[in-house]
Amino acid sequence: MSQSLDGKTAVVTGASSGIGAATAEAFARNGANVVVAARREERLEALRTDLETAYDAAVEVVPTDVTDEDAVDALVDAAAERFGGIDVLVNNAGVAAGSDVEAMATEEYRTMMTVNCDGMFFATRAAIPYLRESEGTLVFIGSFAGQYPRPFNPVYAASKWWTRGFAKSVSAQVGDDFAVTTINPAAVRTEFAVDGAGEFSSPEPFKEQFAPGEAVEPEEVADAVVFAAKQSPSMVSELDLYDRDKLTLLDG
Ligand SMILES: NC(=O)c1ccc[n+]([C@@H]2O[C@H](COP(=O)([O-])OP(=O)(O)OC[C@H]3O[C@@H](n4cnc5c(N)ncnc54)[C@H](OP(=O)(O)O)[C@@H]3O)[C@@H](O)[C@H]2O)c1
Repeated sequence: MSQSLDGKTAVVTGASSGIGAATAEAFARNGANVVVAARREERLEALRTDLETAYDAAVEVVPTDVTDEDAVDALVDAAAERFGGIDVLVNNAGVAAGSDVEAMATEEYRTMMTVNCDGMFFATRAAIPYLRESEGTLVFIGSFAGQYPRPFNPVYAASKWWTRGFAKSVSAQVGDDFAVTTINPAAVRTEFAVDGAGEFSSPEPFKEQFAPGEAVEPEEVADAVVFAAKQSPSMVSELDLYDRDKLTLLDG
């Protein structure tokens, strides 16, 4: 069964661009209150203006570095204080850095692990009491890279395998209390870039490397997030969003 998101509250990390910004927009379009978090405050303020103008949405901007656990706790508290609770947390903030393991700087490794793993842990831990209260939905943005080996960035891939493992295991721990969904996109036309080695290697963001129609659009990922959040009760454990020929690349 589908439920309305009108008046519900969604917290979106990494909302200053790409999938996160599109997801915030999709929740606002569906009548939800939106709490947008990322480090670039001016981007978040511009998004707030857009969503207020387009949808008369209630938007809270909370500049947040997801690697800072106190900041993430403050984000969740600010959301609950402004809107009285949290119905959806979208753990979306994520980065890629480096490529070859043998040449990878420790800093690149730590950046991926702290943003992609620690950040999702901090936000999940802080939001669990509110999601229990609302019987809401916890969404993780995983990746195709978290389902199949990725020769051109094993650490990024491993962080996304972690995401899926964490999501499934949290789901096992919380049982029927609230829903947990992982969305696994392949290449999405955003500011995300993989500048190291391999088939997509380029400092150019994916939105410039791929023409419309050649990869997944951020709005399509946002629609999948909203679909998951609307299910009541939700039985959406994972959704994979790939180009239709994506799996043919695995044919060695
Ligand atoms: N694009 C793809 O092909 C693709 C495919 C599969 C999965 N994904 C995943 O989708 C998610 C979103 O990526 P995207 O494609 O939308 O890329 P994007 O446009 O580069 O967006 C990344 C977002 O993460 C935020 N972020 C980065 N470090 C952060 C930090 N320390 N604290 C808070 N926010 C931080 C950025 O905001 P600030 O810089 O303002 O902090 C930005 O809003 C990531 O988890 C990514 O791994 C992407």
